[in-house]
Amino acid sequence: MTIDLYSDTQTRPTPGMREAMARAVVGDEQSDSDPTTRALCDRVAALLGKEDGVFMPSGTMCNLVSILVQTRPGDEIIVDDQSHIYNTEAAGSAAIGGVSVAALRTPAGIYSPEQFEAAIRTPARTAPRSALVSVEQTTSFSGGSVWELADMRRIRDIAQARGLKAHIDGARLLNAVVATGIPAAEYADGFDSVWLDLSKGLGCPVGAVLCGSKDFVVEAWRWKYRLGGAMRQSGVIAAAGLYALDHHIDQLAADNANLRLLHEAVRDLPGLAFDATAGQSNILCFSVEGLGVTAAAFAAACLAEDVRVRAIGAYQIRATTHLDVDRAGVERAAAVIRAAATRFAERG
Ligand SMILES: Cc1ncc(COP(=O)(O)O)c(C=O)c1O
Repeated sequence: MTIDLYSDTQTRPTPGMREAMARAVVGDEQSDSDPTTRALCDRVAALLGKEDGVFMPSGTMCNLVSILVQTRPGDEIIVDDQSHIYNTEAAGSAAIGGVSVAALRTPAGIYSPEQFEAAIRTPARTAPRSALVSVEQTTSFSGGSVWELADMRRIRDIAQARGLKAHIDGARLLNAVVATGIPAAEYADGFDSVWLDLSKGLGCPVGAVLCGSKDFVVEAWRWKYRLGGAMRQSGVIAAAGLYALDHHIDQLAADNANLRLLHEAVRDLPGLAFDATAGQSNILCFSVEGLGVTAAAFAAACLAEDVRVRAIGAYQIRATTHLDVDRAGVERAAAVIRAAATRFAERG
């Protein structure tokens, strides 16, 4: 069987999760009368220390709606240049929200508070208005690096002082929580919008929950409805989220540990290059440029040995651990990556 490290989105609902879904009590989500969805939103809002939450079909919609609620056309948002918002959301913020993006160049997807402050526009008739800043905790295309709480707080404080809204793309926020022991509500404290993805390491088939103040959620609901995101008997999928919060958070710690194992096993290979932050959560990125091979060719060589990794750039490979890959699978993946790297180095 293929060991699939392409993404933590590749997880399949477990038998226990499927049972919870089958038993779900349901109603009409669009009128906020699906009890299971309401319970999930309340649960995630409490976890994140926010007043309310709204169930969304995807993390992409959480980011888009957060931007739409908190900006006006012609505004500018500030993100890192490897962020999901900037690279892989089909420019939704520009296409639908009419906002431009200031993408900060970063090592490992993490910009400094000073870099952020310098990017805020001086108010002028001729300039876009800096309206929102986003922090991606943990980073996706920058190898799962984990933001320091102190940096996030300084960014939040600068945003507040300068009149910007502060947003957390928390697709994998819980991977940071289990890596550092810092509660999710601490990370989210003072941020205006924050969300969790259920369909990544938590193992659900679909869904995300976006949280903020009651007023924010009222406006988020308006955009969700407009974008066609309102649902009916969504309790069937919300039940998977509640099940995951009860049973799969410990798994994230195992995923992080498996990723460290993988990193340790391949970090010394000549020709592979890693960021200094590599190994902090459940995603490992490395360059194969030093082997004189493209990422696509390297990924194909691994796949030929039943290990699937993802080429995310000309030379950049990404491998992600999750609940469908156990320690033995990670050990085998490490052996295949080592063998492929050694073969390419010898050919070199
Ligand atoms: C950091 C980050 N943000 C947002 C998303 C989008 O989430 P979804 O796939 O649920 O739309 C992803 C998905 O990979 C992600 O990694």
